[in-house]
Formats: sequence, structure tokens, C-alpha cells
Amino acid sequence: MSKEQRINFSSKLAVIAAAAGSAVGLGNFWRFPYELGQNGGAAFLIIYLIFVFLIGMPIMMSEFVIGRMGQKNTVGSFKQLAPKREWWLIGLMGVVTSFLIMGFYSVVAGWTMEYIYQAITNQFVNKDTATLTQVFVDFNTGTWRPILWMIAFVAISAVIIILGVKDGIEKSTKVMMPLLVVIIIALGIRSITLPGALDGLKFLFHPDFSKITSSVILSAMGQAFFSLSLGMGCMITYGSYISKKNHLSHTVVEVSLMDTTIAVLASIAIFPAVFSLGINPGYGPELVFITLPNVFAQMPGGYIWSILFFILLFVAALTSAISLMEVIVAYLVEEKKFKRFSATMLTTLVIILFGVMSALSFSSWSDVKLFGMNFFDLFDNITSKVFMPLGGLLISVFTGWFLSKESVKKEISSHGKFPTNYYNAFIFLVRYVTPIGILLVLLNQLGLFKLFN
Ligand code: TRP
Repeated sequence: MSKEQRINFSSKLAVIAAAAGSAVGLGNFWRFPYELGQNGGAAFLIIYLIFVFLIGMPIMMSEFVIGRMGQKNTVGSFKQLAPKREWWLIGLMGVVTSFLIMGFYSVVAGWTMEYIYQAITNQFVNKDTATLTQVFVDFNTGTWRPILWMIAFVAISAVIIILGVKDGIEKSTKVMMPLLVVIIIALGIRSITLPGALDGLKFLFHPDFSKITSSVILSAMGQAFFSLSLGMGCMITYGSYISKKNHLSHTVVEVSLMDTTIAVLASIAIFPAVFSLGINPGYGPELVFITLPNVFAQMPGGYIWSILFFILLFVAALTSAISLMEVIVAYLVEEKKFKRFSATMLTTLVIILFGVMSALSFSSWSDVKLFGMNFFDLFDNITSKVFMPLGGLLISVFTGWFLSKESVKKEISSHGKFPTNYYNAFIFLVRYVTPIGILLVLLNQLGLFKLFN
């Protein structure tokens, strides 16, 4: 596709909606709380916030710059900006990462569909915590249901992908985000007024720094990459659709703040309830699905709230999944000359294969392990703790050291249209702080370097 033909997001709001639609998803409602619960609470939150500011925001900016300068998919953009060099391999790693993320993401998105069904058929009323937990476990250890929902989810994403970037993504997010915020606040109010809720707020906001270990730090960094959709070319691909008139730094700040706020609000809805109900905060990936139905069961109008919530969670997952699939499809179409339709079909089939492997991790394949993890955990961990940080490191080195300072400055100022007084700080971050920070966290985890135990 030539530069002239390339589709652009239609307005400033559309850019934010699309990027926020990618960022806000299961990462905020499902993964953030469960990671926080497993990693000691408030201390994790603080480290997470530091990573969002020092590593997440500079990398998001870098990805937008690379995509908008390169005007192509994640592999093509690197090839465009660094012809005859090997930087495009970062893009290829992103494509592979996309498949792996979708492999488990689509399974959890399938759970949200099961829960829409359960909400509509009014399954949460008059059930105690133990029963509601059992309901989830029964569903998830049953072999077929999780697989069928996962396939349904991937199929719906595929249809939207085939319809194209502009039609598919823009509209849904603008309506969904504000509504989602309203519901999560209502849930939060119910949650913190439950008996014993205070312990949950303490867990969330009163840090116990003795809980910080190298693996807590790595988890927080991985979660920042995951939640902001970074390190694998998603924002490069979306950056290529952003018009030259758009003010990139505003988009970065708005999207990051929105994403982080929603993750914190989701935790306020979840942890007070977790403590009030006596659920183990370190329960794992199931945490949200066994906690929130309890809150709905005890809320006035819980029936309606629960239906709305799970539908919106599903839509949030959908807009994120689309951004992940778009990385692969844009690559296949532009670099490998596939038709959009066949590219989407191929992508869908491979994702379903990984999806089945992840879904079975909770039932018949729970004993099948690689590096001591089932496939679900493996896909989840290897992407957010290895591939994305590595991708992010290389992306910041590429922006800070390879691209010329003038060209980066031109891009972020839209050719002098916007002020760039933050420019030196940005370059300092991507040259030194971001790459060295990521490296230290990775080395620390490998035990090659000791900052924390
Ligand atoms: N950020 C999304 C979420 O929080 C998931 C997601 C979309 C993603 N695109 C990504 C994660 C790219 C990592 C990389 O649900």
C-alpha cells in the first residue's frame, strides 16, 4: 500500500479511542488485579506506576514515532526507516508475540462471554462465595465450553478485522469507555461498603516494602507492557494510521492516564470484596471471575449491572484483541502480499490452535508443562516477562540511538507545529533510563545482578 492510500483515523478523538481501546482491556480488569494480588498489593502498585511513567510512556511515544514515520506495519516500518539493517526482526518478534498473547487472551475473553450468559440467566443471585467459585471452576474445567466461547470470540474479532480498521475500531470505544468507568465506580462503591472492606483498601494502598522481590519487580514491569499494549509493535501499527496532524505526546499522556486510572478503579472494585468475602487475593487468573459475581449478588439492581458489566468487559477485550490481530494482518497484507481476507483467516486459525492449548490448560492438559508451566501460563509469562520487555528495550534503543535526533523531533512536533519542550527529557529517557531500566530488571531476575532478592 502506498503512503497516499493508507487509511488514517478520522479525528483526534478517534486516535485516542483506538489507542485506548487497545490499551484498556482484560489487562486492566482481569490481569492487573490478579497480578497485584499475587505480588503483595500496594508495593506492586507503586512499582507499577513508576514503570508506567519511566518506561511505558517513553516506549509508547517511540512506537508512535516509528509507526507514523515508517507508515507501515511493524516489520515494514523498521524496514522503511532502517533499510538493509536487521531492525525489522523486532517487528517479526512482535508478530510472533501477538499470536502468543491472543492464544491466552482469547480464552479469558471467552470467559467474559460465558459470564454474559450467566448474568443474563440470573445465575449469581442467592449464591454464596463457595458456590460461585465452584461455578467458575466447573465451567473452566469442562473441556468444551471454554473452547467454544474462545472460538466464538476469535471469530467475532476476525469479522471486525475483515471489515477494516476505520469502521471496526473507532465507533465502539467512544461509547464504551465512559460507560465502563461509570459501572466500575458503582461496583467500587458497593465493594468498599461491604463489611471488612477496609482490609482490602489497606492491601491495595498501604505498601509493605518487604514484599518487593526481583520477581515482583519483573511482574510489575510485564504488567505495564501488557496493559499499555507495548513492546510488540501494536502501537507502531496504530501509529502508522495516525494522521500527521495529531499531537502524539497528548495521545500518549491521555491513553496512559486513562489506562492506569481504570486499572486502579478495577482494583478498588475487587480487593475490598476479596477481603470481605475471605477469598485468597493470590488466587490467580480466576480471581476476578469468582469475586465480582459476589459483589453483583449483593448490589441493588445487581442483575442489570452484571449484564452491563460483562458485556462491556467483552467489548473492551474485543477492541484490544482487534489491535493484536491487526499487527499480524497488517504484516501479512503489506509484507507478504496476502489479501486481507486470507490473512485474517490464517491468523484466526493459528490463534484458535494456541487458544485450544491454553483452554485445555485448565482441564485435560493441566499436567502438560513446559518450563514448569502449563500452556496458558507459559504464553502469558513468556510474552509479558520476556518478549515485550525485550521488544521495548530494542524499540527505545532504535528511537534513541538509531534514528536521527532531527527526524524524531520533526515527527513529535508534526514538523514544527507543536511545541517540544519535553523533547530533551524524552530523548534522555529512551537513550538511557528505559533501556538500562529494562536490562537491570531482566538481569536481576536472571540472578546475574542483585538489586533485590
Ligand atoms: N493492553 C490490552 C489489555 O490490557 C491487551 C493488548 C492489546 C496488548 N494489544 C496488546 C498487550 C499488545 C500486549 C501487547 O487488555
